[in-house]
Amino acid sequence: GVSWKLADHPKLPKGKTVAVVVLDGWGEAKPNEYNCIATAETPCMDSLKKGAPEKWRLVRAHGTAVGLPTEDDMGNSEVGHNALGAGRIFAQGAKLVDLALASGKIFEGEGFNYIKESFANGTLHLIGLLSDGGVHSRLDQLQLLLKGVGERGVKRVRVHILTDGRDVLDGSSVGFVETLENDLAKLREKGIDAKIASGGGRMNVTMDRYENDWNVVKRGWDAQVLGEAPYKFTNALEAVKTLRAEPKANDQYLPPFVIVDENGKPVGPIVDGDAVVTFNFRADRMVMIAKSLEYENFDKFDRVRVPKIRYAGMLEYDGELKLPSHYLVSPPEIDRTSGEYLVKNGIRTFACSETVKFGHVTFFWNGNRSGYFNADLEEYVEIPSDSGITFNEQPKMKALQIAEKARDAILSRKFDQVRVNLPNGDMVGHTGDIEATVVACKAADEAVKIILDAIEQVGGIYVVTADHGNAEDMVKRDKSGKPLLSKDGKIQILTSHTLEPVPIAIGGPGLIPGVRFRNDVPSGGLANVAATVINLHGFEAPSDYEPTLIEVADK
Ligand code: 3PG
Ligand code: CO
Repeated sequence: GVSWKLADHPKLPKGKTVAVVVLDGWGEAKPNEYNCIATAETPCMDSLKKGAPEKWRLVRAHGTAVGLPTEDDMGNSEVGHNALGAGRIFAQGAKLVDLALASGKIFEGEGFNYIKESFANGTLHLIGLLSDGGVHSRLDQLQLLLKGVGERGVKRVRVHILTDGRDVLDGSSVGFVETLENDLAKLREKGIDAKIASGGGRMNVTMDRYENDWNVVKRGWDAQVLGEAPYKFTNALEAVKTLRAEPKANDQYLPPFVIVDENGKPVGPIVDGDAVVTFNFRADRMVMIAKSLEYENFDKFDRVRVPKIRYAGMLEYDGELKLPSHYLVSPPEIDRTSGEYLVKNGIRTFACSETVKFGHVTFFWNGNRSGYFNADLEEYVEIPSDSGITFNEQPKMKALQIAEKARDAILSRKFDQVRVNLPNGDMVGHTGDIEATVVACKAADEAVKIILDAIEQVGGIYVVTADHGNAEDMVKRDKSGKPLLSKDGKIQILTSHTLEPVPIAIGGPGLIPGVRFRNDVPSGGLANVAATVINLHGFEAPSDYEPTLIEVADK
């Protein structure tokens, strides 16, 4: 069994309130007109930066530092919060699927054997995000999956696409559909009946998260399962091009559409005897559709018709709920997280965000685990997010409310750790609206200030960091860093995350003299933060954790 008892830190005291603030989508880059963080008034974060190098530094938040396949992989919230909470680097879904496809093991596992039973008499439906963003899914993995099922007896394949524009450039959906159509044509040459059956933008169809808006999943269900949607086309490329031509349309929010045959009949509703695979590896935006596909008792929306299918996820999306019960690749097993250690050592923990990021500071932080380790010592508060809007319409989001909850938790002295996620830089950054993102960054900074003031009052300690970059660079650049223009001469807006490092700052009256960042972990990343936080609670971190970022100098 695991020994949960943490050794006392030889120098750092216990009993200080520690605020852990994660600014979502807040990277560090040179100031310029596309750097919304630099443009925004952020006096609080600016003052923290003045503490460099002893109290402020940068940490890596992308690529292999967070368990992603390559250094070209931008960071994201799932892997970022996993690393922050777990203190070690785990090979993440993107990598695990790559390995399973490369070795062919994906086609030998329980999940694949299960869905394969439907190949002889049923259709295989593949539902997921069509892009090479690498955050939730990857096009090349879908291509290998299609090739693999083609070689293993599938007779009929229907792909239900979700267009991206959030982890990749807006407008790139067109090229991805072309690529997919090519691959499907190759399958057809081999006598396999392979088509795109439905589609829609990821933020409008299927990929909601943390139960923010079930209507999103319902629109997907109607198109994918029932074959019903407000728009009908005979060809997916035409669908995407036509719907994108509407004023204000973009890939993220395309309305749902179904592909119909020459008689107007949908080409691929999901029916009894079919198999379904959701090919996203990332969990947060797949849990809701997985529930709708798998649960017998389900009251979130009227499913109208519930086909008897064999369903598998690319990964298991929720280890606690065991959802879905069949999957093609096993997820990373993230155990012994800092949250669990601290609670088992008596640290009373408060965590808070608004709905769209609530699971990030709880589920992802705790190694993809829902619920409390010890309900007597923990309280997790979710502030309802606005739904049905794009966040550039309300760029302040619930930052103030989150900060006030954190402040109250700190001042109550009922908690040893108060942890929040401030979503603004990320959620507004994803809209590509530069002006709104500047407002968002200012709001996040004001929220940090409220929390630090409360820490000041109780004599506590703060750790302020971020999970990955986003708002610090809103333009697509060439290799030399020059902004890229699109055909119409406008700059190409970058809605996605970035490869930039993120800041981490420590401070507060509870920090004993001499505590400073070490200079011998220059390549430190998000995974080094957990040991740092454990130390600030007065404990030594477990020996296999990535090294702490701090030391106590004799002064
Ligand atoms: C999303 O799901 O919104 C984006 O693909 C990634 O954003 P996140 O990693 O910041 O949640
Ligand atoms: Co994001």
